[in-house]
Amino acid sequence: MGQNMDKRSYRREHAELYMKLIQHYRNGMVEDMAVSPSSEKSDEVVKVYIRKRPTFEREVNAGEYDVVTCRPHEIIVHDCRMHPSMKPSLAYVESFKFPYPNTEVFGEKSTTDELYKSAVKPLIQFVAAGNVGTMFCFGQTGSGKTYTITGLVKMMSQELFSLIAKLPGTYSVTATCIELIGENCFDLLSDHQEVQLRDGKTGDVVICGNKLCALTSGSELNELYNYAAGLRETHATKVNSNSSRSHYICRVYIENAETGKQYARLTLCDLAGSERNNDSNEHDAERLKETAQINSSLMALKEVIRCVALNKEGDKVHIPYRGSKLTRLLKDCFDLEEKKKRPHTVVIATVSPLSCDSEHTTGTLKHTCIMMSNEVSQDGEKIVVQDVLGSDPYQKRANVLKPIAKMTYEEVIEWIGTVQKGKFKKHIHKFPSTMDGKALARFPDKRLQQILESDLLGNDLRKEIMNYTDKISQQKKQFAEDNRKSTK
Ligand SMILES: Nc1ncnc2c1ncn2[C@@H]1O[C@H](COP(=O)(O)OP(=O)(O)OP(=O)(O)O)[C@@H](O)[C@H]1O
Ligand SMILES: [Mg+2]
Repeated sequence: MGQNMDKRSYRREHAELYMKLIQHYRNGMVEDMAVSPSSEKSDEVVKVYIRKRPTFEREVNAGEYDVVTCRPHEIIVHDCRMHPSMKPSLAYVESFKFPYPNTEVFGEKSTTDELYKSAVKPLIQFVAAGNVGTMFCFGQTGSGKTYTITGLVKMMSQELFSLIAKLPGTYSVTATCIELIGENCFDLLSDHQEVQLRDGKTGDVVICGNKLCALTSGSELNELYNYAAGLRETHATKVNSNSSRSHYICRVYIENAETGKQYARLTLCDLAGSERNNDSNEHDAERLKETAQINSSLMALKEVIRCVALNKEGDKVHIPYRGSKLTRLLKDCFDLEEKKKRPHTVVIATVSPLSCDSEHTTGTLKHTCIMMSNEVSQDGEKIVVQDVLGSDPYQKRANVLKPIAKMTYEEVIEWIGTVQKGKFKKHIHKFPSTMDGKALARFPDKRLQQILESDLLGNDLRKEIMNYTDKISQQKKQFAEDNRKSTK
């Protein structure tokens, strides 16, 4: 924790330096290097969108700055690092790129309207067609969850009612508003009375004793959402003067008025934010317990969403709903046993632009990748290390050799194709497509000979791998030497 505090003040102290480096990075960004959207039609049941909030004047006045770069299909977090010696001349920036070819990233200038059209409108149309839909906002405290969902609810309420009005037959709409504090559920519409969750006969989870409010228009739904949201438990934290310390769940039921059968369901969920450690340092035991409970329920939710996203139609992967009250409460948002179409979930991950929040931002983005089961980018792709003193980091980067063990299949195949004047090029198809650099580096001699169908070729490639590994070690030594000289 102390370490983080130091890091944060160091970042602020050397703001000018870091900002220059980040600007250098941004100036060097080539348009066509951006990830292009995937042409595959995405029909996942879980869709994730990212929104970065703007930096506020008071934050700039406090010495903060923007360390997050957004492009339509990727987001880059510039992690401002310091050398263990804390010498500013050795400070550097590591940029982590999270590519999102199947989804969209909304930058600080984006409007809630834009986000609505891309992310939420299709969900509302899906619900109005008689299905189950859920929308979550999740992210660090103060990153804009409540701001974003409040704006979206206003738009979606109108659209939902106008779509229902166009349906043949008559429908009735009711809603319930629940607050989850720790492991306890409270009904916001009946004076915070505690409500229980019970397992229903068909494996569903039933909320008992909650009040349902009948609604006749979009404005009524919007008003109810805001009224109940206003009754939520909030506290001022250092990060957010009006921080939501509970999960807020507003569930809308649409019933066929003639048959009384449920036609569709929409759940809106504004989660409590994960708090920064140094912020919680200042709280009492009760608040610390609250933060721990919030974090553990968020972890359980992320795990459930990951399993749901992994689950393909017909699969029976166990989904750990019992992990927390939150996931039990939301079970029927994801339930695969639904007789109708599989429920759809839209997750909006909100991130803060600030340097002091970069660890949290990276954490949120990693979680979005887990939710989308995007294994490749879970750790972000570390793209460049910039020395403060390096005049042209790109030049530097071009000369840096990548260790074989860190190469992807494509990279390792390209490397094999170029060594010894392309001698192995015509054998490339013999390598298994599951092989990456790590696997190649671990292949015993026999395996190389077997793949290349020749002892001689196998041995030659082995020699090449060893030569390359030697070059990397020399390069490392050289870097260490350069570093030593510049510290003097
Ligand atoms: N995209 C945005 N544009 C303008 N202001 C924003 C935006 N996002 C957030 N804000 C402002 O930032 C502050 C914090 O936002 P908000 O309360 O929505 O955070 P939160 O994620 O809900 O935090 P918590 O988890 O603590 O409840 C608010 O004053 C809000 O108005
Ligand atoms: Mg909030």
